[in-house]
Amino acid sequence: MWLFYVVALLGFYFLLRWYREKQILTNLTEKYVFITGCDSGFGNLLAKQLDVKGLRVLAGCLSQQGAEKLKEATSERLQTILLDVNNTESVNKAMEWVKAQVGDKGLWGLVNNAGISTPTAPNEWLTKEDFKKIIDINLLGLIDVTIHMLPLLRQAKGRVVNVASIMGRLSFFGGGYCPSKYGVESFSDSLRIEVSNFGVKVCVIEPGYFRTAITNDKNLHNNFRSVWERLPKEIKQVYGVSYYEKMLKGVNEMQANCSPNLSLVTNCMEHALTAVHPRFRYSPGWDAKLFYLPLSYMPTYVSDLVFLKTYPKPEQAI
Ligand SMILES: *[C@@H]1O[C@H](CO)[C@@H](O)[C@H](O)[C@H]1NC(C)=O
Ligand SMILES: *[C@@H]1O[C@H](CO)[C@@H](O)[C@H](O)[C@H]1NC(C)=O
Ligand SMILES: *[C@@H]1O[C@H](CO)[C@@H](O)[C@H](O)[C@H]1NC(C)=O
Repeated sequence: MWLFYVVALLGFYFLLRWYREKQILTNLTEKYVFITGCDSGFGNLLAKQLDVKGLRVLAGCLSQQGAEKLKEATSERLQTILLDVNNTESVNKAMEWVKAQVGDKGLWGLVNNAGISTPTAPNEWLTKEDFKKIIDINLLGLIDVTIHMLPLLRQAKGRVVNVASIMGRLSFFGGGYCPSKYGVESFSDSLRIEVSNFGVKVCVIEPGYFRTAITNDKNLHNNFRSVWERLPKEIKQVYGVSYYEKMLKGVNEMQANCSPNLSLVTNCMEHALTAVHPRFRYSPGWDAKLFYLPLSYMPTYVSDLVFLKTYPKPEQAI
């Protein structure tokens, strides 16, 4: 009998949640959304998707070519600007431009999507500079853009949508990527508390593995090769060439298992921007929902055991 009540209660909860979450805002055509990293991947797809929905998309692109291609593929509502999130001058220029575009409406949405994934390798193979390169862009760049845009977001009682990763919940490979995404989670949490006082909402997107430039196997292979080749002979001997080769193979397998359907992620971003009641966190991708997220709540010895099983053994392992 109690089982019936539990199931009924759960069913009622999900029904209520479903109803609450399907309510979408009206007047989307008057809302401005600024997205970083629109050259490819999630940012590019989201810009097109929101443009079709009638929102006013302001797209930050790193390259002129990326900007032109996006412009060709979208309506004349969509505007682009060159933006390097690693450069405060560029960020400030983008903010002034956005301010002029939105006028007294303010900025409804900021989507911090720009990011990089290399250099990635076992921690001992890397230098402080390698870590800094990723953290500069994925974390400090995101923080810089957010701080610059906050006055405009406050004006519209808008939303910040930060792209973290499931790797902001679990850390199982070396380099600055995981620390940068943990940082995004952490920054988003304190920001959410602060800006709730102004009616601004902060949402975090934590995708699993998706097929973007971030997971492109050619990029990752080149990255592994250049890191391996510059290693001193002693370190190479400690790990052994077969460790390196197995890492390369691991990259191929990961790429093969990546979901090609980026719209799972951009639909979450769209919901965060257009729903009456957005979620605090979205974890798009079955791997994130069914594997990584549950694993992140387990005791450390469980997750360590799982990941150690997938790792190659160094040549000089005890
Ligand atoms: C939507 O826009 C129209 C026209 O600008 C305005 O009259 C109406 O009040 C707006 N509705 C809401 C809910 O803001
Ligand atoms: C980011 O900017 C710093 C200088 O502020 C520079 O040293 C670094 O190379 C830049 N990183 C990238 C990836 O452009
Ligand atoms: C991708 O995901 C969306 C949203 O769930 C779905 O509507 C669409 O059919 C999927 N596309 C493919 C090719 O699987």
